[in-house]
Amino acid sequence: MATTPRFTAGVRVALPASHSPVPVFHALRAAALETGIQEPGGAEAPLQAKTAPQAKTAPQAAHSHEPGCLTGPDPARFPSSPRGDSTHSWPRHRSGFPGAMLSEVLLVSAPGKVILHGEHAVVHGKVALAVSLNLRTFLRLQPHSNGKVDLSLPNIGIKRAWDVARLQSLDTSFLEQGDVTTPTSEQVEKLKEVAGLPDDCAVTERLAVLAFLYLYLSICRKQRALPSLDIVVWSELPPGAGLGSSAAYSVCLAAALLTVCEEIPNPLKDGDCVNRWTKEDLELINKWAFQGERMIHGNPSGVDNAVSTWGGALRYHQGKISSLKRSPALQILLTNTKVPRNTRALVAGVRNRLLKFPEIVAPLLTSIDAISLECERVLGEMGEAPAPEQYLVLEELIDMNQHHLNALGVGHASLDQLCQVTRARGLHSKLTGAGGGGCGITLLKPGLEQPEVEATKQALTSCGFDCLETSIGAPGVSIHSATSLDSRVQQALDGL
Ligand code: MEV
Repeated sequence: MATTPRFTAGVRVALPASHSPVPVFHALRAAALETGIQEPGGAEAPLQAKTAPQAKTAPQAAHSHEPGCLTGPDPARFPSSPRGDSTHSWPRHRSGFPGAMLSEVLLVSAPGKVILHGEHAVVHGKVALAVSLNLRTFLRLQPHSNGKVDLSLPNIGIKRAWDVARLQSLDTSFLEQGDVTTPTSEQVEKLKEVAGLPDDCAVTERLAVLAFLYLYLSICRKQRALPSLDIVVWSELPPGAGLGSSAAYSVCLAAALLTVCEEIPNPLKDGDCVNRWTKEDLELINKWAFQGERMIHGNPSGVDNAVSTWGGALRYHQGKISSLKRSPALQILLTNTKVPRNTRALVAGVRNRLLKFPEIVAPLLTSIDAISLECERVLGEMGEAPAPEQYLVLEELIDMNQHHLNALGVGHASLDQLCQVTRARGLHSKLTGAGGGGCGITLLKPGLEQPEVEATKQALTSCGFDCLETSIGAPGVSIHSATSLDSRVQQALDGL
């Protein structure tokens, strides 16, 4: 795979035509923290991630779509009622055209992320530094006229369908209380009934389906009738590897559902290949995506969905997001140990350890916070021409944080091995994300010769790990025209 392109400061990174949709990769050179950084609404854009998502009561008018790219309104396909009865009539929107909002095919994508410093500590109110990856999740939403809502997740072999009339007839008022807090166990139980999943359903499937139903019912129930939709979500991100695949899933779902329900306008204008939503709309997407994440992870910090929504390189602190400025071009090797793990359980494990040994664990979290702040300071000072001593500081910070994360109980023998293999080559690594396996990052110093990088990758590969090649600083959640998507992405969404 080709070496990662470097981005230049301030440039927004569009999805490259050569973008690889293959979820198994051989190497990663991640470049340029300063590049592709989005400005999430100014230097400091408080997002109040813990606040309730408030669907807008007066949705704005949607933009028109590129005629040649997306399916246009077809009155024959979308009569006032798909069943010809009054119970399930399509809502009439400001266009006056029955079911106009349901005539559009939406193609949405959102990136994964790596956390440089601050995983786990961020759940306890500390700072995290995170950056988006150029590995994305793609969602295609197509209106149906068959009275079903279909969800298909080809990466994990999930295909489910629900009868819209049945969903419509259910009492979903239990969702009303769900806006402000982690979905309650009562809500989860009721959603499980709605989902109709078998008892032996795998956890991944159950959580993905529950998050979908939660977002679908919560966002769409404000419509006069629930829409009949066909939704496919396919990802380049390996699931459960700490790269934010569940956040990218929730962000794509939130963006597509809010758009199809006209809670936010479709920003794709005639002739656009790709576009993004306004800051205000991104905030709404992020808030709903956080609810999806809560359904999947229980008590997430919100950093993963924030990076997936905004893209670029971010500092995240208690729901407040700001972009990392003037950071140097960093090269990072990303390694997937392929050891499966469960973010929810790892986060709960740290909480338990904190409760059990507050005097020991709280200082660890404070120290991780200081590591993030020091890293942010050094990155800010490094600028265009970083000094070797500054890299030494970054390496020391990586080592200290990795030890702290081990002390928090989120290490794994595979991650120790990754650290040892790279350390033997003078390189420094730490886990990224929830730990317990999953992925690690290795800082590649400038001046490191390519043969040395290749030898390191080879050594890691022979441990059974994958080295993932991608770039960092990719744009956040985006909407695409059909013609702009890579044919491999299109095929994946078509189930080919
Ligand atoms: C997971 O990517 C990062 C954690 O800090 C959990 C969270 O922030 O929600 C482990």
